[in-house]
Amino acid sequence: MLGNFAYCNPTKLYFGDDSLKYLNDELPKYGKNVVLVYGTGSIKKNGIYDEVMEILKANGCNIAEISGVMPNPTLEKLYEGIEIARNHHADFLLAVGGGSVCDYTKAVSVSVNCSDDPWEKYYIRFEEPDCEIIPVGCVLTMVGTGSEMNAGAVITNHETKMKIGHVFADENIMPKFSILNPKYTLTLPHYQMVAGIYDIFNHICEQYFSGEDDNTSDYISEGLMRSLIESSRIANKNPQNYEARSNIMWTATWALNTLVSRGKSTDWEVHMLGQAVGAHTDATHGMTLSAVSLPYYRYIMPYGLKKFVRFAKNVWNVDTSGKSDEQAANEGLCAMENWMKELGLVMNISELGASEDMIEKIADSTLVMESGYKVLDRDEIIRILKESL
Ligand code: NZQ
Ligand code: ZN
Repeated sequence: MLGNFAYCNPTKLYFGDDSLKYLNDELPKYGKNVVLVYGTGSIKKNGIYDEVMEILKANGCNIAEISGVMPNPTLEKLYEGIEIARNHHADFLLAVGGGSVCDYTKAVSVSVNCSDDPWEKYYIRFEEPDCEIIPVGCVLTMVGTGSEMNAGAVITNHETKMKIGHVFADENIMPKFSILNPKYTLTLPHYQMVAGIYDIFNHICEQYFSGEDDNTSDYISEGLMRSLIESSRIANKNPQNYEARSNIMWTATWALNTLVSRGKSTDWEVHMLGQAVGAHTDATHGMTLSAVSLPYYRYIMPYGLKKFVRFAKNVWNVDTSGKSDEQAANEGLCAMENWMKELGLVMNISELGASEDMIEKIADSTLVMESGYKVLDRDEIIRILKESL
């Protein structure tokens, strides 16, 4: 490992099918004015809302609600939530939902006491908060983003067609605690489950496909990928398999809680392409990634060939003996493609609502990262997007 870094992750995790009870231990640490933040209805259908409400009431909380946080939460919705939290003099924000709800809640937490416009400050100028941050806790119901243990908050601005993630440097923005009950994920539709699985896988790839030094982070990443492939195959056949779903939940957290990025420059260009597709189609995050991944990885493979050979060998068990590096690396990507198809992931952006005439505009919305194996120029972005159609 040749990089210099600091590591601190202050989020406390409670994991398992009895984990919600620990909300009773956490709530007394904060003030009584709690804002409960949730999505567009799933927690009312599956009973999680009632379970959480009961605990909030038993702890004497004054509760306000921000409901209807949509997948890919919007800037308009953020403004609405800031007002609710301000009017309630919120002491604590409790997110109950998936990555969208957790991200959104963090965005509210850094904006309630901020006099600047949050979009301009956090998503255009990428500044850190200089105001008091309202503490956040999460009860996770959808697995994939890692938002439960990181300082990321992705917001979509429909007016400017930009979907931007700010990964804050300030660890105070990470949730104070997250409750991870794999049972809560069992009501997810298959489409969301596999989208989340690919999101996890791609988070690991985005960090793995960078750098050339011998780095412990890469060995951890390979272990996480192998576990995810194994569990995803079981969950794909039997979504109610608790053991597989719990492994997937735990892998998701470690895939993006800053551990495997230590000492890595990281890439993140698949996410930039996927987020641009998402800004124009509002498609499910994980599917935007699966739809652009293979054209992207096939394109950058020659620039990071050694790592792609290692990926083939250590993650996909490709026998590399007697093969050229190109052949071995290709076999790794083919194995990944077969697995993606087996899960039923969306493999092209047309299926998500993108068309040829939108390519230039999607390219305009694509941010270029400079730390992976290949820094893309505009023509290359267009080429990859066209190949993803
Ligand atoms: O709105 P509700 O009713 O809750 O329904 C949701 C939503 O329709 C549903 N769902 C969640 N839990 C459920 C459930 N349905 C049945 N049973 C349950 N237990 O699933 C749908 C998707 O939920 P969402 O929260 O949007 O999914 P996800 O967790 O994938 O979050 C996506 C957002 O996270 C951002 C994405 O860009 C996107 O905006 N990301 C955040 C990251 C971070 N913080 O580091 C990194 C990621 O790369 C990602 O960009
Ligand atoms: Zn992601």
